[in-house]
Amino acid sequence: MSDLKFDPRNYRIHTDKNKRLIRKSLEDCGAGRSILFDKDDYIIAGNGVYEQAKELGLSVRVIESDGTELIAIKRTDLSSEDARRKALALADNYTTDTSIFDVEAIIEDFSADDLDAWEFSVDDISIPELDNSLNISPDKGRTGCLEDKFIIPPFSILDSKLGRWQERKRAWLSLGIKSETGRDEELTYKRSSQPPRIYQVKNALREKNGSDPSWDEITDYCLKHNISMMDGTSIFDPVLCELTYRWFNLPGGVILDPFAGGSVRGIVADRLGMQYYGIDLRRKQIEANYKNMEDMFPGKTTKPYWVCDDSLNVKELFYKEKFDLLFTCPPYADLEVYSDDPRDLSNMDYKEFLPTYRTIIQRSCDLLNENRFAVVVAGEVRDKSGVYHNFVSDTIAAFRDAGLHYYNEMILVTNIGSLAMRVSGQFNNSRKIGKQHQNVLVFYKGDVRGIKEHFPQLDYSDDDIFENE
Ligand SMILES: C[S@@+](CC[C@H](N)C(=O)[O-])C[C@H]1O[C@@H](n2cnc3c(N)ncnc32)[C@H](O)[C@@H]1O
Repeated sequence: MSDLKFDPRNYRIHTDKNKRLIRKSLEDCGAGRSILFDKDDYIIAGNGVYEQAKELGLSVRVIESDGTELIAIKRTDLSSEDARRKALALADNYTTDTSIFDVEAIIEDFSADDLDAWEFSVDDISIPELDNSLNISPDKGRTGCLEDKFIIPPFSILDSKLGRWQERKRAWLSLGIKSETGRDEELTYKRSSQPPRIYQVKNALREKNGSDPSWDEITDYCLKHNISMMDGTSIFDPVLCELTYRWFNLPGGVILDPFAGGSVRGIVADRLGMQYYGIDLRRKQIEANYKNMEDMFPGKTTKPYWVCDDSLNVKELFYKEKFDLLFTCPPYADLEVYSDDPRDLSNMDYKEFLPTYRTIIQRSCDLLNENRFAVVVAGEVRDKSGVYHNFVSDTIAAFRDAGLHYYNEMILVTNIGSLAMRVSGQFNNSRKIGKQHQNVLVFYKGDVRGIKEHFPQLDYSDDDIFENE
C-alpha cells in the first residue's frame, strides 16, 4: 500500500520531547499498539508513532476492520517479567501524557455539548506547551496563536519549566550571556543550585574567618582559585526579562533598574533596541557586566549603562533622564548578603531595610514618565524566627505609596532544582512548603484607562530576533 497520510487536523500536538520518547520506545521496545487510519488513508490515531516508525524504516502491516471487533496485538517476544515489556508499559502511557491537545482545533470542531459529553475540560490542558516545531502541525494562525502574538501567553502563571520557555531561554543564553561573577538569589545565581565545591569554599571561608562569608568573598575566592561557580541555568531569566520589556515597555523605551546585579537585563534590553540604565553597589559586578557585553558585542558603541553607586542616589545620578519602564529585582531583605558594604540593603535588618528600600522605590518612581509601567520581581522571605517578613506586600505598599497603581500580579514558576531533596526534611520539621515561585508585580504610573492610547497592540508573529544567529 502507499504511504499513510497525516491528519491535517490532528487534535494531538507532539512536542519534541514526546517525539523523542516515541522514538525511544520503538527503538528500545519494538512497536507496541496499532495505529488507526480511515479508508482514505488519513491517520485517525497514531500520527506521532507513524512519523517516527517511518523515520526508523519499520514496515507496516495493515489489518482491515469495520469496527466490530477489537484488534489485539500479541507480542510473542515479550514475557510478563521482561524488562522491555515493563519499559513498553511505561512508554505506552507516558508518551500519551507528554503530548498535548490542540485545544483550538477541538473547540472549532465540536460543540460545547459534544465536549461536555466527552467530559472534555480545557482546564486540564497545558496551553503554553504548544510546540511550533511540529512537522505535522495544523494551520498557522490557529494553533499557538497567543504564543505567536505574545511569545508566551500573557496569563498570570508564567511557567518557566515549560518547553517553549526553556527553548527560548537556551536561545538567549547561546548569545553568550555569562554568569561567572556576581551573586545569588533564588531567581538568579541560585545558590541552592551551586555545585558542591561552592559549599566547600563557603565552609572553608567560614572556618577561616569565624563567620559566614559574603557572596563577594566567595566570588573573590573562586575567581582567585579558578573555581567555576555556576552553570548557565541559574542566571536571571532572560525570557522573563524579554517578556517584561516587550509587554510593558514602549518600543525603544528607556529602562531604569535600581538593583541591577548581573548583565542579563542590560543585554536583553540592548538586543531589543532599548536603552538600559542599571545601578549596583558592587564594582566587580559592574565590571563583569561590561566585560560580558564587550565579549558578546566587541566594539559596539551603544550599550547598556551600568553605574556603581548606592541607588539611594538615583535622582542625582540620573537627574537628566526620564524613564519608560522601571524593572528590577531587589535584594529580598537579607536572604542573600551581596557584600559587606553597609549601604547594601542585604546587610540591613528588616527595620532598617524597609524604609531604605521604600525611599529607593519612591525616588526611582519619581524618575518614571507618566503613563508607564514598573515591574518588580520579588519573593517572600522569612525572618530569623522563620515567619515571613511580608516582603511582597511591603513592595506593593511601597509602589502604591510612591503613587503607582498595583495593576498585575504574575506568578513565575521556577525550577524545583535541589528543592525536591530538601523539601521532605524541611516540611516534616517545620511545615514550611517548598517555594517554587516568585512574584512578578506590575504597577502603573498614570491613568490606566489611557493604556490603550499609550501602548501599541502587540503581535510578534513575524518577529524573530534569533533568526540570524
Ligand atoms: C537581588 S540582587 C539583584 C540581582 C538582580 N536581580 C539580578 O538578577 O541580577 C540585588 C542587587 O542589589 C544590589 N544592592 C543592594 N543594595 C544596594 C544599594 N543600596 N544600591 C545599589 N545596589 C544595591 C546588590 O549588590 C545586588 O546585586
